[in-house]
Amino acid sequence: MNTSHIISRTEDFVQEQLGQDTTGHDWWHSDRVRNTACAIAAQEQADPFICAMAALLHDVADEKLNPSKEAGMGKVRNWLLSCLEDHSQIDHILEIIDTMSYSGGGGQPMKTLEGQVVQDADRLDALGAVGIARTFVFSGAKGRPMHDPGLPPREESLKAEYRDYSKGTAVNHFYEKLLKLKDLMNTSYGRKLAEERHGFMLHFLEEFYKEWNAGS
Ligand code: ADP
Ligand code: NI
Repeated sequence: MNTSHIISRTEDFVQEQLGQDTTGHDWWHSDRVRNTACAIAAQEQADPFICAMAALLHDVADEKLNPSKEAGMGKVRNWLLSCLEDHSQIDHILEIIDTMSYSGGGGQPMKTLEGQVVQDADRLDALGAVGIARTFVFSGAKGRPMHDPGLPPREESLKAEYRDYSKGTAVNHFYEKLLKLKDLMNTSYGRKLAEERHGFMLHFLEEFYKEWNAGS
């Protein structure tokens, strides 16, 4: 199989696996992350095939969609064994996905350029216009309000037990996570894209507060 055939079969596999997901990890998220990863890979001279495969598959192993993280990784490994012969490629893709799965890759640094590219692409999908839309969809799905002016913005993540209707607003998610992501980018092209999207989110918040306060 040539690489474009492997990618197109993998697209079908991921659509099958994620098609019904409503937690923000639907097929179109994977598709956008793949497209952004390929754009960054081209600028950073990273291997486009490894980046595309890891980006497409990065959420298939997600704990939320599998009985356990190990079961999820097993599913991805079996898929890769069914379409790739080069074990160094299989190991590389698995290593990227495994590292990313630690709460958005928060704890562990990526070991390879391709891993850095895919992690940047995943973070970029939480930023800008798409990131704003995902945040409000996520909050709505959890039954949370979009904003509560009585709560000052806080940068610390609220503990799970306090993430109730009154505390975890969509707007607060910008302060606890989204506005911090641009400083975590790995690649210079990823950082450039993140800075643009960061600026758009600041502009959105400014406009949001203006309208909230009678539009003046
Ligand atoms: P990923 O696995 O793609 O890095 P997450 O699972 O952390 O992303 O989140 C999926 C989407 O939901 C993201 O766009 C994220 O910003 C949004 N999201 C996650 N947690 C919250 C929250 N507490 N409030 C609002 N949106 C959230
Ligand atoms: Ni993701």
